[in-house]
Amino acid sequence: MSDRLDSIVDELARALSSARSGAEVEELRRAYLGRKGAIAAAIGEIGIATLSGDARAETGRRVQAARERAGTLVDERAVAVSQAVSGPSYDTTLPGSDRRLGTVHPVALAKKSIEDALRGMGFLVTDGPEVVSEYLNFDSLNIPSDHPARDMHDTFWLTNGLLLRTHTSSNQVPALKRHGAPLRAAFVGRCFRYEDIDATHENTFDQVEGIMVGRGITIANLIAVMKFMLEEAFEREITVRLRPGYFPFVEPGFELDIRCTICDGQGCKTCKTIGWIELLPCGMVHPSVLCEGGVDPEVFTGFAFGLGLTRLAMMKYGIDHVRVLNGGDMKVIAQFPVVP
Ligand code: FA5
Repeated sequence: MSDRLDSIVDELARALSSARSGAEVEELRRAYLGRKGAIAAAIGEIGIATLSGDARAETGRRVQAARERAGTLVDERAVAVSQAVSGPSYDTTLPGSDRRLGTVHPVALAKKSIEDALRGMGFLVTDGPEVVSEYLNFDSLNIPSDHPARDMHDTFWLTNGLLLRTHTSSNQVPALKRHGAPLRAAFVGRCFRYEDIDATHENTFDQVEGIMVGRGITIANLIAVMKFMLEEAFEREITVRLRPGYFPFVEPGFELDIRCTICDGQGCKTCKTIGWIELLPCGMVHPSVLCEGGVDPEVFTGFAFGLGLTRLAMMKYGIDHVRVLNGGDMKVIAQFPVVP
């Protein structure tokens, strides 16, 4: 009896292996497992009801085992046929794989905060070329070739006589010539100096140059704009002070200090116990620069500033060495937000 059932199930297995569609599989299910199918017919021939005792129980177990094997074969073939038609199926309940998102670099964050603040005050925020002429980087800014101020800018000269701009001030005269006065413009971009790298200096760094020219612009406007811009960048109240500073393209020129944001002016390691931190140079645009840009210094005055973004980011995030900022260590960078 058991042999008969086994051979029916083997026959079913062979028939299933050549079934190519769900309909064919279901047809075989009916033919073998249906009420009038081959297995039911074989069971009828056995006449289980006529058996007694242990023989009846044993036959019942074998019939059940044959049915289950046949059912499993049909189910497995049904899945195989449907996958062959529609491709592999996916378990949509499995947890997704962890995709790590990048974060925004602290210098990029500092840059964005300054750009937003300047745009908010009506500045055109743009940039100019990194490769410029000696005229734009120096001569137009009241720094002739024999001027000692050129020594402060260790310059990368190119073989064609041009140079890598040492500061974003190279945009001042082109902007005045292009837009005239009144003007509010800022230039954000990379600068290059042939300098040894130390805790606060690199040979490639970012600056923001700002220039505001109009009728009756004074040092008071300079202070107000600097204070607002820095308060937006640091997201806190900032106290500023001006000290005299020398730059040939501004007169008077200043170094702008901020009260130390770490110790609130009490004196700490960051501010070298002074309570103030030198942050950015600035001043009133020199009349010769206005003339060079085609703007009459008798009618218009203006201020300009040059902010180092590396220094700003280091101050804002309490980073004490430029290597930490720009070393590319993911443990450092991952601490900053994904979205600014
Ligand atoms: C200038 O570059 C002037 N053009 C700024 C200026 C503009 C003055 C308009 C007046 C009016 P200075 O060389 O100090 O100035 O550089 C300005 C800022 O750039 C510095 O305060 C510093 O934050 C940053 N900086 C300069 N050199 C480096 C460097 N090698 N690495 C990183 N940051 C630097």
